[in-house]
Amino acid sequence: MKSDHLAGGGPAIETAGLVKTFGDNRAVDGVDLRIERGTVYGLLGPNGAGKTTTVRMLATLLRPDGGEAHVFGHDVVREADAVRSRVSLTGQYASVDEDLTGTENLVLLARLTGHSKKASYERAAQLLAAFGLSEAAGRQVKHYSGGMRRRIDIAASILNTPDLLFLDEPTTGLDPRSRNQVWEIVRAVVAQGTTVLLTTQYLDEADQLASRIAVIDKGKVIAEGTKGELKASVGAGAVHVRLRDADQRPDAELLLRQALDADVQLEPDPVALTARVGSNGDANGVGPSEKASRALAELARAGIIVDNFSLGQPSLDEVFLALTGSPTDHDRTTDEAQTKEATA
Ligand SMILES: Nc1ncnc2c1ncn2[C@@H]1O[C@H](COP(=O)(O)OP(=O)(O)O)[C@@H](O)[C@H]1O
Ligand SMILES: [Mg+2]
Repeated sequence: MKSDHLAGGGPAIETAGLVKTFGDNRAVDGVDLRIERGTVYGLLGPNGAGKTTTVRMLATLLRPDGGEAHVFGHDVVREADAVRSRVSLTGQYASVDEDLTGTENLVLLARLTGHSKKASYERAAQLLAAFGLSEAAGRQVKHYSGGMRRRIDIAASILNTPDLLFLDEPTTGLDPRSRNQVWEIVRAVVAQGTTVLLTTQYLDEADQLASRIAVIDKGKVIAEGTKGELKASVGAGAVHVRLRDADQRPDAELLLRQALDADVQLEPDPVALTARVGSNGDANGVGPSEKASRALAELARAGIIVDNFSLGQPSLDEVFLALTGSPTDHDRTTDEAQTKEATA
């Protein structure tokens, strides 16, 4: 049972050179992953990167065209049944019946997986309460809000505390409050020992939940590591400056570029600038914080009023920009995802 393979060594997921093609589109193009048990692993990438295709192969719903994948040591093609008995999938798939109520859905699933009638009702009530759905328990799922729907999906997928849970974009299109509720649920699931493979387009979501992250773009893993490693691989910290007066921004830009010897980016906010500084000292041994404070002094000397100044690690947004050379473009991807949902 569960404790068995948790006790066993070996990663929860291991893939080598995994490939899936659709016509001449290499949707997944040689993906290597290693995901340790009991962790949340983030597969982060924009729309169309190959996240769902990867998950579907790992969940035995799609046959790979090349490479190998093992889940708890079982080959996803040759030992698909063994894999299926240990995983659960939610996200871009409907696992619940719209016409049934919350309780009816969970009870039905519990009954199908061999629980007694009494145990099924108990488990359903317990999950509905844990997910803040007790009041909606008797309502048909088709009348649930987006956030409630996502929560009942996850509740259905953890009915039997899976060893491995695939969460495919669990919060895409949700409002901030519902996103936070889903995050809390994911944390609770992991605390029970379940391994989670989470796909997301949201950098802050991976940052919040995952201990390791693979950044995927056009079917390829372009970076992998802990959050700290990913940020360090970009080799920079970021200086964020907010001015009192937008008119002073051109002067500030010039001064910062000279003082920091770095690219300065103008933010959409007309009083904000961001500069990247090396995380290590320069040739003269001047480190990033010293450079930043010198730059601040120069701005003051030039009469430029700074409202806010911070030196931090780059955000995952900045990491993605540095890795792919293009921004993640949240608005566009979110719009597309929502359009898809609306027309589905
Ligand atoms: N069933 C399918 N048939 C044809 N092309 C597909 C199919 N599923 C996905 N694709 C294509 O594969 C690529 C990766 O898609 P997907 O894995 O859904 O990306 P993501 O989940 O990261 O948004 C995209 O170019 C998509 O259009
Ligand atoms: Mg997807």
